[in-house]
Amino acid sequence: MEKKKEMYEGKAKKVFETEDPEVLIVSYKDDATAFNGLKKGSISGKGVINNRMSNMLMAKLDKEGVPTHFIEELNDRETAVKRVKILPLEVIIRNISAGSFSKRYGVEEGIVFEEPTIEFSYKNDDLGDPLLNAYHAVALKLATWEEIDLVKKYAFKVNDFLKAIWKECGVTLVDFKIEFGKTSDGEIVLADEISPDTCRLWDSKTHEKLDKDRFRRDMGGVEEAYEEVMRRLSEKA
Ligand code: TMP
Repeated sequence: MEKKKEMYEGKAKKVFETEDPEVLIVSYKDDATAFNGLKKGSISGKGVINNRMSNMLMAKLDKEGVPTHFIEELNDRETAVKRVKILPLEVIIRNISAGSFSKRYGVEEGIVFEEPTIEFSYKNDDLGDPLLNAYHAVALKLATWEEIDLVKKYAFKVNDFLKAIWKECGVTLVDFKIEFGKTSDGEIVLADEISPDTCRLWDSKTHEKLDKDRFRRDMGGVEEAYEEVMRRLSEKA
């Protein structure tokens, strides 16, 4: 499998075409941004960790009945994935209040919900990824009702799976963002990545933040946090 033309460069990854029109290669960068690209930086070794972590978790999710874009890890930073059309919806599940939820509703971080919540954002950087509900998504033709129902079902399944695996690692899954794509034959699959960039992970005992919030909030110890969660996951998985 070889990279051909560069198709797209995002904030944290590059995507390349290959000789197979159904297969793309994703290359994970160390670049980090926050607040819709306003804050820029780099987290040394992040690309390697996010590549490995996302692949480990997606390979397991595939076996749990959540189809994903994952095909094969090629090296430290690069992975072959199915070519999909990304649904322009960010799907966010929350188990505990934090981040924009706390800000929007004026509540402290750390309130444990009795049931997980789900929300959607319109994936559109120019608009700042505005929150939207399923009716808005259908009205804007971002997805059909059938697709939204499936995405919801998969997202809660991903939450159950991730919560359990992180619990074994002594890590609490606070919230996360996932994205879905559609393959050329119309199958909806989990795409993008699952990593400390896209999940809030707190140490279960100390509640220490072990994710990208350390970068967003200038807390220091960013690389160490990524390494720590990767180490714990590798030991358990
Ligand atoms: P939020 O509290 O800022 O809305 O973030 C919710 C979750 O989504 C959190 O785990 C971080 C993740 N996230 C992304 O992966 N990408 C983003 O652009 C944003 C804003 C959040």
